[in-house]
Amino acid sequence: MNENKTNINYYPGHMYKTRKDIKNIISNIDIVIEVIDSRIPFSSRIPDLKNIINGKKSIIVFNKYDLCDESITNKWIEKYKSEGSIVITSDAKNSNDYKKVIEEVKSLMIEINEKRHLKGLLPKKAKCLIIGVPNVGKSTLINKLIGKSILGVGNKPGVTKKLNIVKINEYMDLVDTPGILWPKFENNEVALNLASMTIIKEEVLTVEQIAIHILKKLSDYYPSILKSEFGIEKYSDEEIEECFTTISKSKNIPIKGEVDYERVSTLILNYIKQEKIKKITFDRI
Ligand code: G4P
Repeated sequence: MNENKTNINYYPGHMYKTRKDIKNIISNIDIVIEVIDSRIPFSSRIPDLKNIINGKKSIIVFNKYDLCDESITNKWIEKYKSEGSIVITSDAKNSNDYKKVIEEVKSLMIEINEKRHLKGLLPKKAKCLIIGVPNVGKSTLINKLIGKSILGVGNKPGVTKKLNIVKINEYMDLVDTPGILWPKFENNEVALNLASMTIIKEEVLTVEQIAIHILKKLSDYYPSILKSEFGIEKYSDEEIEECFTTISKSKNIPIKGEVDYERVSTLILNYIKQEKIKKITFDRI
């Protein structure tokens, strides 16, 4: 198996373009809504967001909150709040949490319009832009806010198109296409966390590297899930073969001479992708 592929400087050309496009349109935006994955509240953030949004007001949406370990994720929420951020938790797929976004925009606009009033300016509606790294639920949230399905959920190219504005209510307009930004891999841990949540794909890291990372995290933080889902008590690098053999046998993946590491690894990734494993948060403060 290939354990040493570490070309994590992958950064597709169109992501540079999107970053530039967002910088160009930001002057027309009042509020930026940054969507992140609640299971990785550090790794799924855009590191240089401040540079991109250039002083605009922003809201952080902790999306996929239904899939996270709330006790850990709440610590991140407290941290970001203590740093002055506005934070909302959201399950964009299965709930009406999008209404919290509308409420927060409304109260921010009251603040903005009070300042405008003091300057003798007329009140304005908030023009909002949703941004975030891939697969955090931006399209799902946009579709909920707009009230119909205008964006395909799932695979799509990472390019912001023209500024098409949709009315949400009397306070809020929304750019109907998300700004899709690429994370910066501050270190291997961040890249592996992103890959575990299918935010970056297997072309950046091998499927085996990602699966091992998931097993390590489960072993360190969620041993009961490791036991119940994969039948192992503890993962250690010294016992890779034994662990993969146990999983292979328990999941009826045939062993022809040697364990099929790729197949077992794909199965482990799919447990997260298909939400068979929930209540996990991989980033720790
Ligand atoms: P993106 O625009 O940021 O790339 O993300 P998108 O909305 O396409 O959502 C990516 C996947 O995450 C979708 O699943 C979507 O249904 C799911 N999702 C979005 N928000 C939430 C949430 O708050 N909780 C949970 N549990 N899932 C969420 P998919 O498998 O790609 O599509 P589908 O199964 O919905 O058809």
